[in-house]
Amino acid sequence: MSAELISPLPIARTCPYAPPAEHRRLREEAPIARVKLPNGRTAWAVTKHEHIRTVLSDPRFSSNRRDPGFPSLSREPPPASDLKPLLLELDPPEHGQVRRGVLGEFTVQRTQALGPRIQQIVDEHIDAMLAGPRPVDLVQAFSLPVPSLVICELLGVPYADHEFFQKRSATLVNQQNTAEEIGRAVGELMMYLGKLVAAKAQDPTDDLLGRQIRKQRESGAVDYEDLVSMAFLLLIAGHETTANMISLSTLVLLQQPEKLAALQADPTKTLGAVEELLRYFTIAEHALGRVAREDVELGGVLIRAGEGVLLLANTGNRDPEVFGNADELDLERGARNHLAFGFGPHQCLGQNLARLELQIVIDTLFRRIPGLRPAVPVETLSFKDDATVYGIREFPVTW
Ligand code: HEM
Repeated sequence: MSAELISPLPIARTCPYAPPAEHRRLREEAPIARVKLPNGRTAWAVTKHEHIRTVLSDPRFSSNRRDPGFPSLSREPPPASDLKPLLLELDPPEHGQVRRGVLGEFTVQRTQALGPRIQQIVDEHIDAMLAGPRPVDLVQAFSLPVPSLVICELLGVPYADHEFFQKRSATLVNQQNTAEEIGRAVGELMMYLGKLVAAKAQDPTDDLLGRQIRKQRESGAVDYEDLVSMAFLLLIAGHETTANMISLSTLVLLQQPEKLAALQADPTKTLGAVEELLRYFTIAEHALGRVAREDVELGGVLIRAGEGVLLLANTGNRDPEVFGNADELDLERGARNHLAFGFGPHQCLGQNLARLELQIVIDTLFRRIPGLRPAVPVETLSFKDDATVYGIREFPVTW
């Protein structure tokens, strides 16, 4: 039994629908194991559901991504950033204060109110696909623009600029890019959002950023840099993630037509199916990390202060102790205790929105394009094995 993983992470998958076999081996043989990172450092990889939840809810582990011990799957150290810490990087008590400031925008009720507009956006993109040439790349024609437009409208970012920020946010989540490339993308996005927040400060619009500006003014604590950081995070987190889930969900449902047919026969099952698709793919497998603030004993292993911990949630979401037949996509499983949105205080702020978008997409896409199918052999598709967020790079479809 080896507690070490010799090959550095990330490891390429052999099946697009399952985490690498090496991750599973770790879960079975050494659920808290030393792994090598591409930058030559080591970290602990945690692969069991129970341990992942423990770390994510334990304040002795920090989310400070700028700490040198924070586990990164990039080859280079993160670029120095002038950006104020993102919500995702904050620890208590600051984290709770900042999160509470924006939580009201993401309640189930507030999110549900966006449903009709999301439906309209989905329908318009399907109209455009149906009117355009075939085959078409689903990623560019549908998966990316739909959540991108939704988050832009919510924030109050002009969608006309989408090419600018989509390109830069794709640069940020690709681990293969150099620190310089990532640093440039961050700088350009910050500059863009800085100008946008300044313009809204002159004339606060009725959108998330405008409302936050008014709220800050009322409380007397005006800090536009905080708003730039928040806008930056929401813009990035709000579209790459959901976009990847749309492409992957479409692919797997097209590959398993009997499951898709059952879903189409009873749309009340879609919400549960979305939950299972989230578990099955757990696209943020490489995005969940922490660094120990003090020595912590976890599952009989001593994690020392300053050491990084990678929470391999996709592997945790296939833990047979929690999910029976975990490698099977069971759209009627009805399990919500998965880790696709993380766990604990940093659990995804946009999860209600992501669920609603996926629900509307799944209910609409296959109904409106009944003959939808991949336009190339599925084995030729390129998957984002090395990225922070898993997905499909290009997905040609026809009907
Ligand atoms: C946090 C996944 C969609 C905004 C997270 C975390 C995960 C995650 C795993 C926890 C990170 C950590 O603990 O370090 C996903 C997935 C999505 C999705 C799988 C889509 C299927 C969205 C959307 C938004 C969003 C649509 C915005 C509207 C955020 C924010 C955080 C976060 C702001 C940080 C919360 C905090 O630190 O308190 N997400 N996310 N996410 N997500 Fe999402």
